[in-house]
Amino acid sequence: MLGKLLSAFSVDMAIDLGTANTLVYVPGRGIVLDEPSVVAIKQNEGTNKVLAVGLEAKQMIGRTPANIVAIRPLRDGVIADFDVAEEMIKYFITKVHNRKFFTSPRIVICVPYGSTPVERRAIKDAALSAGASQVWLVEEPMAASIGAGLPVTEATGSMIVDIGGGTTEVGVISLGGVVYSTSIRVGGDKLDESIVNYIRRKHNLMIGEATAEKIKIEIGSAVMPDDGEGKSMEIKGRDMVQGVPKYKAITQAEIFEALSEPVNQIVQGIKIGLERTPPELSADIVDRGIVLSGGGANLQGLDTLLRKTTGLPITIAENSLLCVALGSGKILEEMSSLGSVLCDN
Ligand SMILES: Nc1ncnc2c1ncn2[C@@H]1O[C@H](COP(=O)(O)OP(=O)(O)OP(=O)(O)O)[C@@H](O)[C@H]1O
Ligand SMILES: [Mg+2]
Repeated sequence: MLGKLLSAFSVDMAIDLGTANTLVYVPGRGIVLDEPSVVAIKQNEGTNKVLAVGLEAKQMIGRTPANIVAIRPLRDGVIADFDVAEEMIKYFITKVHNRKFFTSPRIVICVPYGSTPVERRAIKDAALSAGASQVWLVEEPMAASIGAGLPVTEATGSMIVDIGGGTTEVGVISLGGVVYSTSIRVGGDKLDESIVNYIRRKHNLMIGEATAEKIKIEIGSAVMPDDGEGKSMEIKGRDMVQGVPKYKAITQAEIFEALSEPVNQIVQGIKIGLERTPPELSADIVDRGIVLSGGGANLQGLDTLLRKTTGLPITIAENSLLCVALGSGKILEEMSSLGSVLCDN
């Protein structure tokens, strides 16, 4: 009786704990939370107080006074700051519950394929200490494939490439398992970093991470614009010679150049994935092509570049930013048929 009562109050959830964004899916309700993975902390005489989490905290990045720090607890898809990650998960669970008292949900949470057992344990422990009663792990390429609607349990090979903030995960899925996968620690963050460095080198202008991300989303491109210049954008930063704030117009061709190195690393990762795929599954992939998911899939021209370099059909998944959360949520909803895709540990 008590158990029944408790379960009526418990809200099981699937969490896509991403380097850039955390999403929460609740069975029957869909995605109920989608916020940046950022925590703002106020440091005061050796004690730390959480000031803001998510969107509010992201707006503070690069703008905080000395005693406040905006932290991204995940780097390269894995936990870099355990305590802060735990606080963040706890905050999101409480927010989703929208209740004063705390219940202990069962949670499906995803991990990068390339994460080590220690890194996986850290993610599991963070969710447990944040209040989960049970935690299952699922590898990101599997969750992304399910979320993208690929036939993961059939005897046919599907290739998914999830380009997130921290990592690019290349996965070949067949019969409910990851047959081959590789995880490269290059994603949206590296693209932003490359833009910061390029603008500093070429224009003597210092810009922050957030500005770099805006530039990438607005005029970033994986291919050279047809007219050799493309769109342009006015950016603001600090002139490194005169030390004053300054405007500067930059072109899409410049950002293409800035991004070419990390974009090539992503392309190489995908090519290696194709080379190592068992032949029968390669044949399936030739027919079905590659599906791109994650925020980075939306980089302009990336699909065109991949079509050219691999000769394969390339599709960007619908709701590419949501695939991992939707897939993890579906596993939770259809545990009897999809439970076998969860990791053993
Ligand atoms: N239109 C766009 N063009 C290029 N990049 C984009 C676009 N929209 C979002 N991004 C980038 O996608 C990244 C976030 O994607 P996503 O939410 O899939 O990452 P994540 O799941 O948090 O990270 P990870 O899976 O690596 O832990 C950010 O780097 C963001 O700048
Ligand atoms: Mg992700």
